[in-house]
Amino acid sequence: MSAFQTERVLTVHHWTDQLFSFTTTRDTAFRFINGQFTMIGLPVNGKPLLRAYSIASANHEEMLEFFSIKVPEGPLTSRLQHLKPGDDLIVGRKPTGTLLLQNLLPGKTLWLLATGTGLAPFLSLIKDPDTYERFEHVAIVHGCRTQAELAYRQLFEHELHEHEYLGEYVKKQLLYYPTVTREKFRNEGRITELMASGKLYTDLSLPAPSLQDDRFMVCGSPAMLRDLKTQLEASGFTEGNMQHAGHFVIERAFAER
Ligand code: A2P
Repeated sequence: MSAFQTERVLTVHHWTDQLFSFTTTRDTAFRFINGQFTMIGLPVNGKPLLRAYSIASANHEEMLEFFSIKVPEGPLTSRLQHLKPGDDLIVGRKPTGTLLLQNLLPGKTLWLLATGTGLAPFLSLIKDPDTYERFEHVAIVHGCRTQAELAYRQLFEHELHEHEYLGEYVKKQLLYYPTVTREKFRNEGRITELMASGKLYTDLSLPAPSLQDDRFMVCGSPAMLRDLKTQLEASGFTEGNMQHAGHFVIERAFAER
């Protein structure tokens, strides 16, 4: 069997000049764990040009979804941003990644901390009933420069609440905290700062994190990951991986495209 399959683009949504999402068909044999990423791409000069992308859809959904930035000179995204329904997309058959519930120790509150397109793997995880079975609260924190970049706000603030079987979980357990750094908004500041000051916890009416109760998944730029890892480790939290479950797991939002 080939390492890749070809899927057909179903929908494309442009959030801003720099951000877009798209959905494709999904081979019924393609299995993944919520939170994983896979290689996707397009044929360029007869060869597949591929980059790692987190899967933004959940594994119980019929289609695949991806959330991408547009890099003007980016070899793949300069092409990908012109995708239209009906176009072909190459999808790798071997998903992988560390942002998995199984890599975290049991706890009470799950913090999903994302900047920019780092939100993608969490879109998958918040549609997984297992996420809500394992944790009492699931707090999704999305940091962007501007409000326009807060993609999927409608999903968090409205659509998920109406969802046929996730709605009940979402209403009781999901907390959404959007924050921006370069314009006025109801929540402002970097995630790192909001955690250091404790404002994040006060605003959400949750206790400050403890080793016993709080678990973190982090996805964003290399600088954001580095700073959050340092901050979490300074408080005694340890990183989990496929061999040993821990208090937090991290993954780069794949941005060089
Ligand atoms: P800032 O505007 O202060 O740089 P980007 O678009 O550059 O990927 O940034 C997305 C969001 O992540 C922005 O709000 C940005 O804040 C924030 N950010 C950038 N670097 C860090 C970091 N090291 N820790 C936390 N947040 C960061």
